Amino acid sequence: MTHAIGEAPGKVLLIGEHAVVYGHPAIAIPVRGVQARVEVELTRHGGMELLAPDLQGPEAKGDHADAIAPLLRLANSVLELFGEGSQGVRLVIQSTIPIGHGMGSGAAVSVAIVKGICAALGRTLTPDQVSELALEAEREFHGNPSGVDSAVVARNEPIYFVRGKPPQTIAVGSETFRFLIADTGIPSPTYKVVNDVKALRDREPARVDSYLWELGSMASVMREIIRGGSAQELGVCMNHSHGILRELGVSSSDLDRLVEAAVEKGGLGAKMTGAGRGGAMIALLGSATDEERLSAELRLAGAQEIYSTTLGGG
Ligand code: MEV
Repeated sequence: MTHAIGEAPGKVLLIGEHAVVYGHPAIAIPVRGVQARVEVELTRHGGMELLAPDLQGPEAKGDHADAIAPLLRLANSVLELFGEGSQGVRLVIQSTIPIGHGMGSGAAVSVAIVKGICAALGRTLTPDQVSELALEAEREFHGNPSGVDSAVVARNEPIYFVRGKPPQTIAVGSETFRFLIADTGIPSPTYKVVNDVKALRDREPARVDSYLWELGSMASVMREIIRGGSAQELGVCMNHSHGILRELGVSSSDLDRLVEAAVEKGGLGAKMTGAGRGGAMIALLGSATDEERLSAELRLAGAQEIYSTTLGGG
C-alpha cells in the first residue's frame, strides 16, 4: 500500500470575476491560511473509495453522491494518464475552505486530489497539467468555469490569467499588500450567478460587454500596480471594480455593507470577490490600518469569518 498527501490553498480574485468567463484577464491570489488536503492510499485490491464528510455544498447541483462522482472520475483520469487504471485508490478529503464562498474550494479539492495521486504514484506533473486535469471536475460542478480557480491553486502564486492561455505568475514589486477577506457566511452557487450574468448579457449585450471590458482593462492596470505601484493605487481600482460588479447585479446588500465598512474604517479599497451574491469580500489595508480594529469593524458589519493574506514582502 502506498500513502501520500496532496494539498492546495484557497484563492481570491483581486479583479476579473465574471469578465474572465468571457475571455478578459483576471488576477487571482492564493489564500494559504485555508486549504484542501487529500490523503491518498493506493491499494492492490482495486476499487475506489472516497471519504469527504464535509463536501456537501452549493457547488454541487445535487446531493452528496453528485458532489463526489466528478471527484472519483477525476481520480480515475489521473490513474489512467499514468497507465495505472487498474490500481485501487482510497481518498480522504478534508478542507478548511468554505464551500461556495468564492474562495476556490472546488478547485482546491480537485487540485489536491491530482497532486496526491501523483505523489502516491511517484510521478510529477507541471502546475498547468495539474490545473487542466482539475478543470475536468470543475466543469462538472459549474458548467462553464474559466479555469482561473484551478490555475491559481495549482500554482500557489499570484497569477494574471486569460482563459485558454498559460497563466502568468506576477512578480510583486517593493510594496507589501495586506488584505483581509471577510466572509458573509452566505453560500452562493457559482453556476447560478454565472448563468444570471449570461442571461443579462443576452438581454443587454452592449451595456454588459462594456462593463466586462472595463474589468479586463483594470486587470492589466492592476498587474502593473502589483509589479511596481502603490497600495493606494490598487485600492482605487478595487473600489471601482466593486461598483462595476454591483452594476452587473452580482453583489448583495451583505457584501455591500462589508465593502462600505472596510472603506470607511481604514481600508484603502474593497470589493466583493468570486461569483458574488454571497460569499466573501476582500479589503486592502493601508500601512497605518490596524488589522485587528478593522477585523472587529467587519464583524460588526456582519462578517462571519475573517482571513488575512499578503502579496509581496519577501
Ligand atoms: C471565479 O472564481 C468566479 C467566476 O469568474 C467564474 C469563473 O471564472 O469560472 C464568476
